[in-house]
Amino acid sequence: MAFVVLDHTLVGRTLWVSRSYGDCTESQMRPKCMDVGRRSCFGDTLLALFPPRKHSFRMMYSGVRMCRLKRDFAGLSDAKSLYGVLTVTDIQADSSQLSFGLITDIHHASFDYDERHCSKSLGRLRRALDWMEKRGIRLLINLGDSINCGYGNNKEAEYTREVRSALTAFPGQVKFLIGNHDIETFPKAEFLDLLQCGQPCAFEEQGVRCILLDGNNHADGSDFMPGNFTWDQAHLGPGQRALLEDELKKAAGKPVLIFCHECLDHSICNGEPDPHLVKDFAEARAIINRFPNVLAVIQGHYHPGRSMVVDGLPYLAMASIVGDDEPDPGAAAIVHVMKDGSLEIEGFGRQPSLKLSRNG
Ligand SMILES: [Fe+2]
Repeated sequence: MAFVVLDHTLVGRTLWVSRSYGDCTESQMRPKCMDVGRRSCFGDTLLALFPPRKHSFRMMYSGVRMCRLKRDFAGLSDAKSLYGVLTVTDIQADSSQLSFGLITDIHHASFDYDERHCSKSLGRLRRALDWMEKRGIRLLINLGDSINCGYGNNKEAEYTREVRSALTAFPGQVKFLIGNHDIETFPKAEFLDLLQCGQPCAFEEQGVRCILLDGNNHADGSDFMPGNFTWDQAHLGPGQRALLEDELKKAAGKPVLIFCHECLDHSICNGEPDPHLVKDFAEARAIINRFPNVLAVIQGHYHPGRSMVVDGLPYLAMASIVGDDEPDPGAAAIVHVMKDGSLEIEGFGRQPSLKLSRNG
């Protein structure tokens, strides 16, 4: 019996592994697993059990995912250890459809204020990106509030470029949502230009439709502009609600995830709807509830993070990267969209790991 730490996203890649034999207890079996091509070590994110067979191993992840590993040994050592090169050639009964990274509320700035340690955010972001890269993640969604207004220090453009620069290290595509703090100084278009990205919109990845909403609008749908809004009076507005309905109709028969910086869930604060919700949440949810192929709504904005099921649908508010104090690891997640329509949230830092599915 032997164990190996491995990541299911490595299918198709060649791995250099070592494993231990013999008298070791399970807890002592801390094997090493290294991707030959990237020369990077992988953490103990996946525990695989593979009794030796003639030419293949069976690998188990979280008790459910089974892979077949084709063996091509580079050499054998003594009875206590065995080293080899494995090529992951096939996944049988793999139940995930799409995996992507998720971050929110970086609030990057050079200063700290109240409970927000904005000056620590870039370091936390880089650690989260490093974790995702080692897990083989190649799609990242940033839920907004990338920067924090500099209170007249005119450094917002610099902060935005620094976030952009940090994210260019991510080896895959990055999708951005706009947060209310992002547009305290710039109109939306100017902020998006600085980030070198386009307006949030819908896209499809591995059969999953992703709808990115902009909740930074007045009730009539006009844009929040610098100096003309308050964070707790946000709306999707008629235009974004129409876009939501249109995109949901176009996604008929496909699994859908909805993303928005502001919240659409049903949190209550002092007997009233939480001010982190868009004011037209009821209209938005009435649209969403007509489409049973929506798997979840994923939000930022509420820094502690939360999850709940509303009308049978999971709503996740991601924990923020900007945190209360040091030491604080920040927060991030890898979302695994499972073929059965459930989501496995793999948490990093303050973001807990969760399993989300319709009807709880
Ligand atoms: Fe925020």
